[in-house]
Amino acid sequence: MTNRVFNFGAGPGMLPTAVMEKAQREFMDFKGIGASIIEISHRSKDFEELLNDTDRLFKDLISLPENYRLLYVHGGAQMQFSAVPINLMGRTPARKGLYVDSGRFAHMAAQEAQRFGEVQVIASSQSTNYDHIPEITPDMVDQDAGYCYITSNNTIFGTRWNRFPQTGTVPLVADSTSELLSRKTDINQFGVVFAGTQKNLGPSGLALVIIREDLLGFAPKETPNLLDYATYHKDHSLTNTPNTFAIYMIHLVLEWLTGQGGVEAMEKVNNQKAALLYDLIDTSGFYTAYARPQDRSIMNVCFNLPGEELLNRFLKEAGAQGLYALKGHRALGGVRASIYNAMPLEGVRALANFMKTFEQKNG
Ligand SMILES: Cc1ncc(COP(=O)(O)O)c(C=O)c1O
Repeated sequence: MTNRVFNFGAGPGMLPTAVMEKAQREFMDFKGIGASIIEISHRSKDFEELLNDTDRLFKDLISLPENYRLLYVHGGAQMQFSAVPINLMGRTPARKGLYVDSGRFAHMAAQEAQRFGEVQVIASSQSTNYDHIPEITPDMVDQDAGYCYITSNNTIFGTRWNRFPQTGTVPLVADSTSELLSRKTDINQFGVVFAGTQKNLGPSGLALVIIREDLLGFAPKETPNLLDYATYHKDHSLTNTPNTFAIYMIHLVLEWLTGQGGVEAMEKVNNQKAALLYDLIDTSGFYTAYARPQDRSIMNVCFNLPGEELLNRFLKEAGAQGLYALKGHRALGGVRASIYNAMPLEGVRALANFMKTFEQKNG
C-alpha cells in the first residue's frame, strides 16, 4: 500500500495493514456472495456466522470465564458513561456508584453518573493534573455501593493501573477503551469491562461490553430499551441493526491478533515498544516523560520538550517524516505517541530514531 504513515493518533487509531488490505479485497464481495458485508442483513446466516465467530475469537483471546457475556453496544465509550450507572446503580438500595478520578474520561463518567443516583469520588489525581493513579485501599470501598468505577488506561495522560483495586463484593467496572487486548488481564477481577472500539478493536461507534451474568437485569423499568444491557444479552446484540461493518472489522482485527500469537505475545511486543520510548526519554536530558514511572501506560506515551518552539518544530518535522498525529491532547499539550497493538515495532523504532536525531540537532 502506498503512502501509509506510522499513525500515532490516540483514536480512532491505526489498524493493522493486513486487516485494511483484507477489508479492501473483500469489500465488494463478502465470502463470494456477490454483495458487500455492509449490504447484507444483520439477520442473514452469513452475518450471524460472522458474529458468532467474533464472539469465539474474543472469548479465546481474553480467556473469558463461563459466567461472563459479550455485548456489542451502540454509541461508543461515552454511551457507557450513562449505561453503567443506569444498569448497575440499582443493584443495591443505596443507588450509589464509587468513582476513581484518574483522568478526563473518568471525570466525565463520574459527572454523567450523577444524573442517575449518588456518586462518590473515592480518590482523585486531579490536583497533580492526573500524572499518576491514585491509591485505593479496601477500606475506601463502601460495600453498599452498586459498583466501583475505574479507567484502566488514561488515554490523555498516559497512565494505567498496574494492579487493580480490591473492591470486596462491590463489582469493579473498568473503562478499558485505550488498552483492551494489549495485556493479559484476568476478567474475574471485574464485574464489567467496556471499551470503545476505535483503538485496539476496529472502527469507532460501538462499545464492547464484557459483563458478569449476575449483573444483568438491574436497570429500572423506564430505561430506554437500547441502554439496557439485558436487551443486548437477550437478543445477542441484534435487537435492531448494529454497526455491521464495525463488527466485520473487529472480526478481522481479532483474527489478526490471534495470528500474532494472541494477547500474551502482543503484550511482550507492547512492552518492548513502550520501553524503547521510555528508556530513550529517561536517559535524555532533553525529553521529559509526563506520568510517574510506576503508573506509565504502554499504550499512550506522553512527554514534552523544553519549550513550545521546539515542540512545534518536533511535530512538524516528525510529520514530514511520516510520523503522524503525535500532538498531545489539548488538555495536556506536549507529545503523545499512541502505540496500540497495530503499531509495529518498526514504527516505534522510526520514532525513536527521529527523537535521537532531533535531540542531537537541537539539544
Ligand atoms: C478511556 C476513554 N474513555 C472514553 C473515551 C470516549 O470514547 P468515545 O468517543 O467512543 O465515546 C475515550 C476516547 O478516546 C477514551 O480514551
